[in-house]
Amino acid sequence: IPFIEYIPAADTDYANKRKRTLAQKALEKIKVNLGKTYLPYINGEYVETDKYLDSVNPSRNTELIGKVGQISIEQAEQAMVAAKNAFTAWKNTSVKERAIIIDKAADLMEQQRHELNAWICLEVGKIIPQADAEVTEAIDFCRYYAREMMALDDGYNYDVAGENNRYFYQPKGIAVVISPWNFPFAIATGMTVAALVPGNCTLLKPAANSSIIAAKITEILIEAGIPKGVFQYVPGKGSQVGNYLVEHKDTHVIVFTGSREVGCNIYAQAAQLQPGQKHLKRVIAEMGGKNAIIVDESADLDQAVVGVVQSAFGYTGQKCSACSRVIVAAPIYDIFLKRLVEATKSLNVGATDDPSIQVGPVIDASAKEKILQYITIGKQESQLALEVSVPEGGYYVSPTIFSNVAADATIAQEEIFGPVLAVIKADNFDQALTIANSTDYALTGGLYSRTPSRIDRAYRDFEVGNLYINRTITGAIVDRQPFGGFKLSGVGSKAGGPDYLLQFLDPRVVTENI
Ligand code: NAD
Ligand code: ALA
Repeated sequence: IPFIEYIPAADTDYANKRKRTLAQKALEKIKVNLGKTYLPYINGEYVETDKYLDSVNPSRNTELIGKVGQISIEQAEQAMVAAKNAFTAWKNTSVKERAIIIDKAADLMEQQRHELNAWICLEVGKIIPQADAEVTEAIDFCRYYAREMMALDDGYNYDVAGENNRYFYQPKGIAVVISPWNFPFAIATGMTVAALVPGNCTLLKPAANSSIIAAKITEILIEAGIPKGVFQYVPGKGSQVGNYLVEHKDTHVIVFTGSREVGCNIYAQAAQLQPGQKHLKRVIAEMGGKNAIIVDESADLDQAVVGVVQSAFGYTGQKCSACSRVIVAAPIYDIFLKRLVEATKSLNVGATDDPSIQVGPVIDASAKEKILQYITIGKQESQLALEVSVPEGGYYVSPTIFSNVAADATIAQEEIFGPVLAVIKADNFDQALTIANSTDYALTGGLYSRTPSRIDRAYRDFEVGNLYINRTITGAIVDRQPFGGFKLSGVGSKAGGPDYLLQFLDPRVVTENI
């Protein structure tokens, strides 16, 4: 196939009635396929396991989506051996051949888009348009990284008279991908194909709550022609199987997205040399955020209210990029808060297979309990501005707003990962920026302002990996807003950007005297 310029995929236009019908039909089709068993995929084969885990729909928690085989430590070792055995052939497969497989996977995702959306909607409780955006992002990751690797494969020539100097890249070896449940399709796909296309053999250990979606990625890679042993799907307990693979002496790269606690532990564990280990591991760890939007007195409030509501309550606040703090200039604080509360009240909360719903459930019972504990803390340390009643039968939590929150309050400092927004008053812009930068995190941030000097100041001094001016702060697009943070939000270069693949490669230089 010709490797033409990278062209991003388009989200589905649900204003189109035909597209809405396709979405509905896909949901109906998936619903008659619930309850099946999904097996790990090791060395080119699906393998039976001793243990199975139920995956349920968080919107209706008695609805079984399917059962997922959980690998044992022995099977994790078999997967590692298979990956090692497949490495030489995969490394020596041309970049073009590898890129063709990954491009084919993107084409299959496009063909299966509505069904994939339905699986995401049902397994992790995401509304269909947001599931659709995930599928778009996954397709983009495949096509973008395939082309990026084709370009990197050219290497560099630094020849001088009498001497050739060739700079080129080789894959690092074995990559362990540990993915989260909140972008179960896009992030798991992105990390996996970014490891595969440079020539690494890859093991994907998905989050328990989204293992069936990862099984769909596996089916797609198999259909796209991924060779035996090059890719293994290894669902299992993070603290056992994940930990085993992180510590393994033959692991070269760990690509993790998830919580700060787990990410920091992985970073520390990976630094320990194991007996027989002959290299240092590379860790890419994308972790949490406590993201703030500043709204100053020159902001367009119509725009700001909608942007904050979408950023805070989209996917029920369960995006690492979500807004969990809004810092509002004192002169507009009261009016902004009033409008924010009114706008949030209008959100429909319920099961995500209903197209009228804007806010779904949270992922599981323990997430709900943890969020409710933070809401209790919020009631003690600030003022409750909004809490609404929510449906039963799923893991629902009310979109919740706290006002007069102190900048150093628990709910203004810790990642809650749910639909809880802290509204903080700032006396001036300097103070707003200081508050915004006062957490351990540096992932996303936003500013609503029509004052050019403040926008300039935010460019320089708002310490986040992705800053958005006068728009929502979620929904980064591949090759347009390469995504990732620093401080305790993560280590590694930005996903969907020009440096990302370099993390999966070792550069070499060969000098030839001629
Ligand atoms: P999590 O840390 O609980 O789990 C992430 C993955 O780590 C899962 O696959 C889990 O099984 C695995 N794991 C757990 N313990 C492990 C261990 N000891 N060793 C190895 N692996 C282990 O996170 P989550 O709840 O799935 O995801 C939510 C978190 O992810 C939030 O903090 C969110 O901010 C973050 N996140 C960050 C980004 C980003 O790009 N920065 C994107 C999405 C999510
Ligand atoms: N990349 C995702 C976003 O920007 C996390 O919302």
